[in-house]
Parts: sequence; structure tokens; C-alpha cells
Amino acid sequence: MSSPHNSRRTFAIISHPDAGKTTLTEKLLLQGGAIHLAGEVKARGQARRARSDWMKIEQQRGISVTSSVMTFERDGITFNLLDTPGHEDFSEDTYRTLTAVDSAIMVIDAAKGIEPQTRKLFEVCRLRSVPIITFVNKVDREGRPVFELLDEIAEMLALDVSPQTFPVGMGGQFEGILDFATGNVARPEGPSKEFLGTIDEKPVLPEQWAEEAELAQIGYPAFDLEAYRNGDLTPVYFGSALKNFGVVDLIDAIARYAPPPRPQPAGEEQISPDRDEVTGFIFKVQANMDPNHRDRIAFMRQVSGTFKRGMKLIPSGLGKPIAIHSPILFFAQDREIADTAEAGDIIGIPNHGTLRVGDTLSEKNDIRFTGLPNFAPEILRRVQLVDPTKTKQLRKALDDLSEEGVIQVFYPEIGAQWIVGVVGQLQLEVLISRLSAEYKVEAMLEASPFATARWIKGSDAALKTFEEFNRPNLAKDRDGDLVFMARSPWDVNYQQEKNPDLVFSATKER
Ligand code: G4P
Repeated sequence: MSSPHNSRRTFAIISHPDAGKTTLTEKLLLQGGAIHLAGEVKARGQARRARSDWMKIEQQRGISVTSSVMTFERDGITFNLLDTPGHEDFSEDTYRTLTAVDSAIMVIDAAKGIEPQTRKLFEVCRLRSVPIITFVNKVDREGRPVFELLDEIAEMLALDVSPQTFPVGMGGQFEGILDFATGNVARPEGPSKEFLGTIDEKPVLPEQWAEEAELAQIGYPAFDLEAYRNGDLTPVYFGSALKNFGVVDLIDAIARYAPPPRPQPAGEEQISPDRDEVTGFIFKVQANMDPNHRDRIAFMRQVSGTFKRGMKLIPSGLGKPIAIHSPILFFAQDREIADTAEAGDIIGIPNHGTLRVGDTLSEKNDIRFTGLPNFAPEILRRVQLVDPTKTKQLRKALDDLSEEGVIQVFYPEIGAQWIVGVVGQLQLEVLISRLSAEYKVEAMLEASPFATARWIKGSDAALKTFEEFNRPNLAKDRDGDLVFMARSPWDVNYQQEKNPDLVFSATKER
């Protein structure tokens, strides 16, 4: 008998802003029967935004800061789509969300090819060998030549490309999408030139297209499941999310090729989804929409076992079990209370700050998932209070927000000027806005003398010596771990060379 988790596909969409991720998400959910009207994803988003002050930033800048989870079913497969914030400004949230998926769809605008954000996100996927299916979107518009696009993907990402479909013309000449496996063409129809279900069986194509399509088939590697799952090859589908071309192809490709839940690293061990014990890890914590209440939802990626409502799990950060009475599964139509969940599923766990990003949850408290890193901040700022009597509130807020992964906080060993670190500018705006809205703390950010930070590890003796000489450049993070605050990247190299017994690490695994 096949385990229930084999029917799970947990994935994310990665793309540069404007490539069509939102449109594709809507269409995927529509095909999956999860929503009934296109546009609902955005409409729901707007209603949600109105609820919380700090989310004003989202409105002002027309972006989505937070990510969410959408679940839909089709042909017996449960798809869990994790949304990643679609903004050029990279955040840790995005990185971490990608640690919770088994595969990704990379959306590329046919007129633009690989853009900077696509590339960054791709690199994060590659770090973890996350397999990628490529969707070249907007072929209903004038785009770049197919071969140019395919070659660019192959060259810029150092990846084999294997086209599975082919656009018969683009823009004004667009006549449909040819499926190499069947030789059939999905045709545009009506004044809007949408795909409404009409498929021509093995039509004879005009000579130019027939030749190009043949070249595309013989000029690139054939699809190879193993190479795809290793992250060495990407199957490429062409389409138009707006006009509904290629959407079903994508769903089929995920169902057929994308891996079911993969084992997750826990130190030396790999925890298999077949393990009986329920285990999972928190990859995201989201403050609840009501700023007057401090409750949060922690998003757990389930790694193994069959979760049942009311079950007791032990968070690694707490050591004692908590009963999970009202877990949430994120169906697109509505949030549904989950009764059971399998490996690969995402469960939302309401809590009051007990669960933190990076925590492992398990029945026996016998494992720790690794590989969910904190990233070395690229921007460091001193936090200056407008009202100096609010120190206590500020500390509480900084601790809370660092638990959520909004910022990292560093408490210098000398002096009282706390430092916050982020990987993207946007996180700073979120910080100031939330300090004011949720904690009633008015603060300003000032330049800090530091350029980056490194977590230090080594023997007690080596650490002690280092501390003696470098106290002005040392801080403790939220967990009390020692951090070297560097004035420049050069500074990091210099200290590393001078102190070969210490490890200066740009990420910290929790
Ligand atoms: P994003 O989430 O990746 O940022 O992109 P989004 O789906 O919001 O799409 C960005 C723009 O591209 C939107 O136009 C959208 O309608 C358009 N678009 C998406 N897919 C396709 C496609 O397959 N073909 C064509 N021609 N356009 C597509 P907009 O004018 O910026 O927004 P809207 O006013 O249409 O919502």
C-alpha cells in the first residue's frame, strides 16, 4: 500500500516581480477547484491587508510582505503551494519558505528571460537541490525567440533544459501550444484568444513552426526524471497564465514528476517521511492580524507521521509537550480546521510566542532538524528610542520580532545601543512600522559602524581569548550566542586568518 504522503506535492513558485506569479497561482487554484473566481487571491489579499496597521506597507508599495499556504486537490493528489513574497527586496522569509518545499516552479516572462530575483531564488533552491519546473509565461504577447530563452536559462543557471511544449508563434501570431508528448496543439479561442479546452489532435503545422518545434525537440536533452529530481535538469513548459495556456500541463507535471515529501536532514541523520513518529519544523511565524493581540501562527512543515488533531508535540525550544487543539490547514477557499495531516502538509499552529522559527516539533523530542539557517545580515542599524523610558518595551519587541524572523537582533557586550540586522531594506520598514503599531514604541534607525556579522564557534579557551581582545566588536544574539560584528568583509577574513581555531560562520543553524 502506498503511504498517504506519496500523494503530497509541496512546492513554491519562484519568479521576478511581474512575471505572472499571482496570475498563475490563481489559475492553478482554479484548475484545482480551490477557488471559483479568478481574482479572488488578490481580493482576499486586500481584505486581509486592511486588518493590520503594519501591513500598510504592503498597500503603499503594492507588494506582499508575508507568505501564505494554499492547498488544492486534483486527481487524488494534494498540492501544497507555499507563496513566497514577490518583491525584489529579498527577505529571510523567502529563504526559509524554500526550506519547506520539495520542488519549485520557476516563472519566467517570455519577453524578459531570467531576471535578478529569479536568479537569486534559483540559487537558494540549488543550495538544497530543490528540483525546478520552468514555466515561460506570457507567450500570448510578443516575446524573445524560444531558442534564445532556452539557451539563456541553460547558460545563466548552469542547468540542462528539456522543453516539453512549444509555443506555436507568440504575440499576434500566437496559435497555441504544442505538446511534444502527444503532438496535439491547445488552441486559442474567441475574441479574448483564451484556452477554453479546444485541442487539435496532431495538426500539420506551418513549415516554419514544424521545423522550429523539431529543432527544439532534438536540440536539447530528453527529460530525465533522475536529473530533474537532482536539480540538474529542468523541464520547460510554455504558456500564458492570463489566457490559461499551459496551466494544466504544469499541474500534471508536478503530479507526475515532482517529488513527494523528501527526507529532511537532522544532523547526521535523514528523517524519512515513512517514520511513524510525527515530526516537523517551524519555517515561519506570522503575527496575527489583530495588532492588539499577541497571538501568532507558526507554520509547521510536517516531515513524518500522521498528525491528528489534539495531538501533543514537543517543541525543541520548550522541551515540554503542547497540545495542538486547533491546527489550521490552509485551503484557498477558507482556513479549515485540520483533523489529520500527513508528511509534506503545512499546519498552522496558533500560539502566544512559544513557537519560534527553526523549532523542531516531535512526539519524543528525540531529533532536531537542521538546515534552517539564520543568514548573516547585510544591513546593520542601531536602534534609537524617541522616548528613552521605553527601553523595556523595545527589548521585548525586538526579541519578539527576531523570533518571528522579521529582523535579527544583536546586543553588544559593551554599550547599550542595540543593533538590528536584516538581509533586505524592506525588513527595516516593517520593523519601524510594527514597533509603532503593535508595541507603541517610536524608534529611529541610525547608521552602525558594522557591515556584517558572523557567528563564532570554537573551544572555550579559544573563545575566551578572542573575547578578551575583541570585546568592542562582540555581541550576543537573541539566543545568547556569541557574534562577531565586523566593520567590513575584510575584517572577517582578517580575524579568520588570525584565529584559525575559531569558525566564523555566515549562517547560524538553529
Ligand atoms: P507577479 O505576481 O509575478 O508580480 O505578477 P502578476 O501575476 O501580478 O502579473 C503581472 C502583470 O502581468 C499583470 O498585469 C498580469 O495581468 C500580467 N500577466 C500575467 N500573466 C500574463 C500572461 O500570461 N500574459 C499576459 N499578456 N499578461 C500576463 P498588470 O497590468 O500589471 O496587472 P493587472 O492590472 O492586469 O492586474
